Amino acid sequence: MNKIPIILDGDPGHDDAIAWVLANASKELDILAVTSCCGNQTIEKTTYNMMRICTLIGLHVPTAKGRKRPLISEPIIAPTVHGESGLDGPALPEPDFELVQMDAVELMAKILRESKEQVTLVPTGPLTNIAALLLAHPELKEKIKQISLMGGGVQYGNWTPAAEFNILVDPEAADIVFSSGIPIIMAGLDVTEKAMIFPEDFERIRAAGNPVASVVADWLEFFYQFHRSMGYEGAPVHDAVAVAALIHPEIMQMEDYYVEVETEGDFCKGATVADFRGVLGKKPNAKVIMGIDRKAFADLLVEAAKYYGEVAK
Ligand code: RIB
Ligand code: CA
Repeated sequence: MNKIPIILDGDPGHDDAIAWVLANASKELDILAVTSCCGNQTIEKTTYNMMRICTLIGLHVPTAKGRKRPLISEPIIAPTVHGESGLDGPALPEPDFELVQMDAVELMAKILRESKEQVTLVPTGPLTNIAALLLAHPELKEKIKQISLMGGGVQYGNWTPAAEFNILVDPEAADIVFSSGIPIIMAGLDVTEKAMIFPEDFERIRAAGNPVASVVADWLEFFYQFHRSMGYEGAPVHDAVAVAALIHPEIMQMEDYYVEVETEGDFCKGATVADFRGVLGKKPNAKVIMGIDRKAFADLLVEAAKYYGEVAK
C-alpha cells in the first residue's frame, strides 16, 4: 500500500496529542514532519508539549516551532480546557531530541520542496503556520495534495456562538487557507462533537496495558473533566477526526460545500459559512464532514493504543 505522506501541525492540546498518537500508529500514513502552532497555549508551551508527545510515542522526524502569534488577530489561549501547561494531567517524558534549526514554515517548505510526491497537511490548531507557508512560498502550493484540518463548524461555534476556537484564533489565516484552492477536508464541530469518547472507551484504551495507552486514557480523563462541566457525556476528541478522515473516510459522511471565513464583525468573526444552496454559484472548496460512526472511531483509538504495546515488544 502507498502510504500517505503527511505533515502534522498542532497546538497540543489533549486532542492534538491523541490525534498524533493515532497518526503515528496508522500504517496508512507516513509522517514527514511535526510542527507546533500557538493556540491552546503559547507557542513555547505547545512546542514543549509537541516534543514530549513525540518522545512518548517514539516519533522522531524533523520537528520545528511555529509562529508565536496569529497573523493579525491578538492571541487567544485556552487554559480552562487544557490547563496551564496546555497538556495537564499525566506526567510525560522530557524531550529526547532537538528541534531542527529552522522554523515551522521553513521546515514545511523544505519537506514540500524535497518530496517526490504531493504531501497532505494535517493542521489541528489555528491555521497560522499553513497560511504563512502559502504566503511565503506560493510556488509550493502545487506540492500540497490536500489539507485535512480540524476547525470551524457550519452550524455553530464553541468559543463564540458563531466561531470555533481554531478559526477564531486566526481568522485571516483560515481565510487564506480556505481561499487557496487546495482541496480541504474540514473536520468541524458538526462532526467532532459527534466523535465522542465515553468513559467506558477510556477504560478499553487503558486495558491495552502499555505506557502510551495509559497516558492516552489519562489525557481523556482530564479532557473529559472540562467537557463534563459543560454538560457533555464524553470527551469530543476533535483533532483525531482530521487524522481518521485520511485513514478511514468510510466511517464518515462528507458533503461538498463552498465555505468562506468571516474575518470581521462583532458577533460572527471566525465563522465558517457554508453555501448550502449554492447561491454564490462557486465550486465547493471543502469536503465538510457532517457525520461519523462513533463506535468505529472509538475503536480506531483503541486499536492505536494497542499498537504501542506491540511495537514495545
Ligand atoms: O475547537 C476545538 C479545537 O480547539 C481543537 O483543535 C482543540 O485542540 C483546540 O485547539
Ligand atoms: Ca488543537
